[in-house]
Amino acid sequence: MEATRSILLLLPAVSFRSSGHCQTFDLPPCRSAPASHSLRSGDIRAPPLCASTSSSASTARGDYRGPKPKRNLVADWVSNNDEVARSLPIYVGGFALLAVLLNRTFSGIAPVADASSSQSRADILSLSLAVTDLLAGLVWLSIRPKYISPEVPEGVECRRIHSSLPDYAVHELLWAWTSLSDATCCRSLVVVYKNCCLLQIGIASEISSKDGNPTDIDVPCLTQGSLCQKAMQSGKQSYLANLSLYPGRVEFPFLPANTQALILQPIGDSGIAIIGGDTIRGFSSLDQAWITSISEKLDVTLCKLSQL
Ligand SMILES: *[C@@H]1O[C@H](CO)[C@@H](O)[C@H](O)[C@H]1NC(C)=O
Ligand SMILES: *[C@@H]1O[C@H](CO)[C@@H](O)[C@H](O)[C@H]1NC(C)=O
Repeated sequence: MEATRSILLLLPAVSFRSSGHCQTFDLPPCRSAPASHSLRSGDIRAPPLCASTSSSASTARGDYRGPKPKRNLVADWVSNNDEVARSLPIYVGGFALLAVLLNRTFSGIAPVADASSSQSRADILSLSLAVTDLLAGLVWLSIRPKYISPEVPEGVECRRIHSSLPDYAVHELLWAWTSLSDATCCRSLVVVYKNCCLLQIGIASEISSKDGNPTDIDVPCLTQGSLCQKAMQSGKQSYLANLSLYPGRVEFPFLPANTQALILQPIGDSGIAIIGGDTIRGFSSLDQAWITSISEKLDVTLCKLSQL
């Protein structure tokens, strides 16, 4: 898994901007409403995409704000040797018990006559410690973490790409989707940038009429939702690890109804990626850090589009 991730990260030619100014490309303008057509070209002009070059450039220059993965040698060893770690107290306790009994046997003290001697008091203390250890081992063996299995998302396959995107941007967005869906529990991805929905891919919920069409994205309604706004204002990733605990999940009607985990990742100042996963707490801290890096790369690419 680790190897797959690093290979995927290296795949695309990285195209970070060296100067502070974006190259501009002329694109047909996009319509921001009505929602059902937001993925096709239209005629209402969105604000120019490079209005906020300075702040998005500063994130590209290594001012990394996302979560960082931590390494803990003991924790790694324990998670790799679960069975051994759990039975360790039993071995230690059993060995200690044996040692105390042998000591008592060979120290030649009459068992009853010397019941109040310092040796007896020490023996009782050591015995209780050894037995506590044994019991702790039994508890560790009987309590095991719950395995959380992935849910099959309920919905339809969806692959909508904004029709006026140039090839390099489409390529970059599809690369991000392939990487995320291969290496993490991500099953749905939506990218909104400058009030345009650029990409809706993966599993999406079905329109209630059951005609097999995925639900459209109402961009103004989505970006005004409290969860999205909070994420975009803070510029920090927001991770809803158990989505069913959040009443705000109604802001994402286009995701499969049984989406288990959700990451809201701001892209620069005016974009957001919505990443739905099929497992509760399925995104590790490494995945989160990695998603933040991908969003910075997407920001650099999408910033070059002058208009959508
Ligand atoms: C048993 O333990 C006591 C306390 O540490 C020690 O003084 C004694 O020598 C030990 N007896 C034997 C036979 O090892
Ligand atoms: C997630 O939230 C639901 C709803 O409250 C709860 O029943 C479930 O146990 C939670 N799952 C985990 C793994 O915390």
